[in-house]
Amino acid sequence: MLRRTLINLVLVLAMLLTLGLSVVSAAPPAQEELTYTIKLGDTLWALGEKYLGSGFAWPAIMAATNQKNIEDSTFAYIGNADVIHPGWKLAIPSQEDAEAFLAIYDPSKPELLFGKRAKGQLVVASWWTAGGEAEGLRGLFDIYAAKYPDVEIVNATVAGGAGFVFRPVLKTRLIAGDPPDTFQLHAGLEVEGYSPEQYLEPIDDIYASEGLEEAFPADLLTLLKYKGHYWGVPVNIHRSNILWYDKSIFAEAGLNPPTTWDEFWAVADALKAQGVVPLAMGTSGGWEAPHIFEDVLAGTCGAEKYNGLWTGAVPWTDSCVAQALENFKRMLTYVNTDHPALSWDGAGHYLIDNKGAMVIMGDWTNGWFMAQGYTDYGWAPPPGTKGIFVALSDSFSLPKEAPNRDNAIAWVKVCGSKEGQEAFNPKKGSICARTDCDPALFNEYLKSAMADWASDAIVASVVHGAAAIESWVTDFKDAIVLFVVSGDVAGTQAALQQACVDAGVCQ
Ligand code: GAL
Repeated sequence: MLRRTLINLVLVLAMLLTLGLSVVSAAPPAQEELTYTIKLGDTLWALGEKYLGSGFAWPAIMAATNQKNIEDSTFAYIGNADVIHPGWKLAIPSQEDAEAFLAIYDPSKPELLFGKRAKGQLVVASWWTAGGEAEGLRGLFDIYAAKYPDVEIVNATVAGGAGFVFRPVLKTRLIAGDPPDTFQLHAGLEVEGYSPEQYLEPIDDIYASEGLEEAFPADLLTLLKYKGHYWGVPVNIHRSNILWYDKSIFAEAGLNPPTTWDEFWAVADALKAQGVVPLAMGTSGGWEAPHIFEDVLAGTCGAEKYNGLWTGAVPWTDSCVAQALENFKRMLTYVNTDHPALSWDGAGHYLIDNKGAMVIMGDWTNGWFMAQGYTDYGWAPPPGTKGIFVALSDSFSLPKEAPNRDNAIAWVKVCGSKEGQEAFNPKKGSICARTDCDPALFNEYLKSAMADWASDAIVASVVHGAAAIESWVTDFKDAIVLFVVSGDVAGTQAALQQACVDAGVCQ
């Protein structure tokens, strides 16, 4: 019966095509793909007429639904176009996609109606190798693998916190025309450093098809847009400014986490007197001291002035910058002497081993602590930053010459999805970029981060690519790395002002 129907349809189709008519010529205005639940009396033909302007478009509905079913079993599997049941979930493609399918559809190849399993590789490039980072990434891989079991995921990591080794490697690959399929990219101005118009695909259509503009907060969307386009799909929101402390050490010393600068000096003195390293730091990557300094800057200048420093509204000659450098210099008198040999996670061992009392680092530290099985930690905003959330976000992008483009598109869709973000963030130690994740999946720290994200003044991290173009970030980092050794407040402030001038933001 179906065969006969199919043959009849094919004949009519062929006639129409010979007459040069488009099968969907009575097209209603172009529309987005939509999900449809079958009602009693529906036929694919009638649905084609209703949504795509012609009953002849039914194969496009069948193919779209079967394709969805491969990735998501809540969609129906349609084995026979004449046999559909009320309650089944269908995918009605957009007019454009339906036309594209019908243009290649050949009724002598009915397999085209049954979707195609993704195959080949998916090369995912990131710097996530540390505890928490690796587990979070694995969570995303698991979701992807369940949807696309025939795709081989290649975990192409280049170790080094904050991507300080990764980024130059990736740039070389892009320039050589040899990119991975997708790569980790901070939301914000970092994208400028990759010449996106030359090397990346704008992914506005993925935002549209996945409803991502409705899923992410408006401020994040603004941060993600560069030259009028989206270049990455964010998986998370991280917070740069957290002071982590060892609860037992603080309790035994009768101390509370410091909230003001004066309290910080007093607490640090008390800890030092007890033979504990007050503030553990690792600076081997060249970004960690600048990271702490951005938090000190926010905590000394306040949110508004901090923002102004990156937009040109506040000059770097402002006295708060000098004060921030003074604060940082004093802070450095309380750190471990072996910091040049340690990475950010290496510094975390000071707390685990009860040799150090505090660390100032982003909340990936929370993921790392979880991965280490260390639970004796508390958290507080570093001095002066109560009510300020220094934010950054990791996204994944699509290089123009991605060898496995379809697999990469499927990957960024998983990155933006609720299930992807819920699998990733609780392990990574970050909160979802989406606004609809289930808070019950997150630990106490992350619940507090969600509350702060909703109520604090949000300012952009510079070291993690949000606030400034790459060349400025590099100048900023260089100045602070030098400062850790020199302690030269006036000279460093002048270098920071010059960096702003060189970036074309300050006069
Ligand atoms: C940041 C990144 C985080 C975390 C951290 C340490 O730049 O956004 O996800 O991985 O580096 O590697």
